[in-house]
Amino acid sequence: MNKSLRKAVIAGNWKMNKTPAEAAALINEMKPLVADADCDVVLCVPYVDIPAALEAAKGSNIKIGAENVHFKASGAYTGEISAEMLTALGVEYVVIGHSERRQYFGETDQTVNLRSLAALNAGLKAIICVGETLEQRELGYTETLLKYQTKMALTNVTAEQLKNVIIAYEPVWAIGTGVTATDDQANEGNCYVRQAIAEAYGADVAETVTVQYGGSMNAKNAEGLLSKEHVDGGLIGGASLKAADFSVIVKAASK
Ligand code: PGA
Repeated sequence: MNKSLRKAVIAGNWKMNKTPAEAAALINEMKPLVADADCDVVLCVPYVDIPAALEAAKGSNIKIGAENVHFKASGAYTGEISAEMLTALGVEYVVIGHSERRQYFGETDQTVNLRSLAALNAGLKAIICVGETLEQRELGYTETLLKYQTKMALTNVTAEQLKNVIIAYEPVWAIGTGVTATDDQANEGNCYVRQAIAEAYGADVAETVTVQYGGSMNAKNAEGLLSKEHVDGGLIGGASLKAADFSVIVKAASK
């Protein structure tokens, strides 16, 4: 096991927050605070904020991502955005299969897979989210579920395309609740994800894939979580809306 084979990635997930002007202001505040990061720094923002975010991030080490992408290239899909539309703007990353999409918008393992393929075929880096609910954890299904979700999301993804995949383990019970997984629970969940990748692509390949933890990661708990063997970064919701907090997490990942 060699953590140095993997790139640490700290990604903010702004969810449905910030107008374009507010997005630019927050990025301008963040830029100097994360300038010397020794990890990849990504902000995934609402679609309408993308142009302002890209403009504000220009010349900095902050990369911009979207929070979702549709699986078709074009057509009668009212309200949806294609991968090509994102790459045309200069977007590099996209979050796929976030539990809020699964919970509130009918996202399934199959659509997560289709969206992932569309993103990867267009050259985007996909941050694919997996995670168990509290009920599933209490029933003892965490390992089975995480492996299933991971393998389903990666169906037909080639080993070459896997280089552009980040998996975010986000226990649903820890998202936006202030209840964080313990360092060991996060490490264990991330390890299950890596085992699933190893089963599908081989252990050597699995060692190179960045697996993030997400769920109430903040300035206080980031260092402990990120010190774990299988935790290669974080997908950060609430704390990514505060420049100071986000930069502390970026610094913890840069150690
Ligand atoms: P949180 O969100 O950090 O606010 O818990 C994480 C996420 O939903 O990606």
